[in-house]
Amino acid sequence: MPPHFVMKNIINKFFSEKADDSLLLPWGDEEFSKLMLVEHLNQNSLSGSRAKPFIQKQVLFLDDLFKKLGIGRSLLDIGCGPGLYCELFNYHGYCCDGVDISPAAIEYAKENIRDSQFFCSNIEDLEANKKYDVSLVLFGLLNEIKNPVSLIRSARQHIKDNGYIVLEVMHPKFFSSLLSESTLVSGSEEPTYFSVLPHVRITKRFFEEESDYLVNRNLVVDDSGTVKLYESHFTCYDLEKATRLLENNGFTDVQCIQSPQTGELDYESYYHYIIAKKRPLD
Ligand SMILES: C[S@@+](CC[C@H](N)C(=O)[O-])C[C@H]1O[C@@H](n2cnc3c(N)ncnc32)[C@H](O)[C@@H]1O
Repeated sequence: MPPHFVMKNIINKFFSEKADDSLLLPWGDEEFSKLMLVEHLNQNSLSGSRAKPFIQKQVLFLDDLFKKLGIGRSLLDIGCGPGLYCELFNYHGYCCDGVDISPAAIEYAKENIRDSQFFCSNIEDLEANKKYDVSLVLFGLLNEIKNPVSLIRSARQHIKDNGYIVLEVMHPKFFSSLLSESTLVSGSEEPTYFSVLPHVRITKRFFEEESDYLVNRNLVVDDSGTVKLYESHFTCYDLEKATRLLENNGFTDVQCIQSPQTGELDYESYYHYIIAKKRPLD
């Protein structure tokens, strides 16, 4: 296809107001996962993981919460990335295993964190040899996952009777603030998951009523002239919606817990926790 035709298709897709699954971030792809690992470990980027001091604060907060609720010490971190939470939970006396679909992230976790078991798998296909006191779904994975019902049901399978699920989801106010910035232009000299070369990106955001998605679409042009499109789809979960999802899929006693870091609206901290207890099947 002539280059101007390719470019025309890309531009048309960029301006389209329809969510496009074919542009979703390929988390499980070998090459993409290597770029994403760099992002996870970059202490100045929030695209993959938060910086370690913030993760430390969260782990201490959750440790306190688990102690108050009398919750046991075996954890499964779903979408664990390179295992940054597992490492810190282990340090605080937990046994935290992790599962992630990203090959490079799991390889890094296996090499660097000795006391955990790591599984490279889509959570929907995970076959673990034990059950956990808690399944953790952190940093908004529930907001972003394609099939939330399947995530919740799969997470449930790996929880002991009377164990818990902890979902860290975007605060609805944070969700609205993302939508209020409908176009952004940014650039990076450093490698990001969009390209290893210096690149510029235009981000467009819109809400698609039909699917209930906030679509975050990026058009990326790097210094080799390569042009790519990537997008993420986010669903907002307030307590009512999360409660419906959890109660319909084997959980009870749903409660929302504000993290201590949510005083102001900033990207790093504006999430809250939704916690629920596993209900025996009726
Ligand atoms: C925003 S990152 C957060 C990583 C980690 N929780 C952290 O905060 O450091 C989301 C992670 O979920 C993983 N993921 C996405 N879909 C998944 C799935 N279906 N099963 C397992 N992991 C998945 C991605 O590969 C990615 O590592």
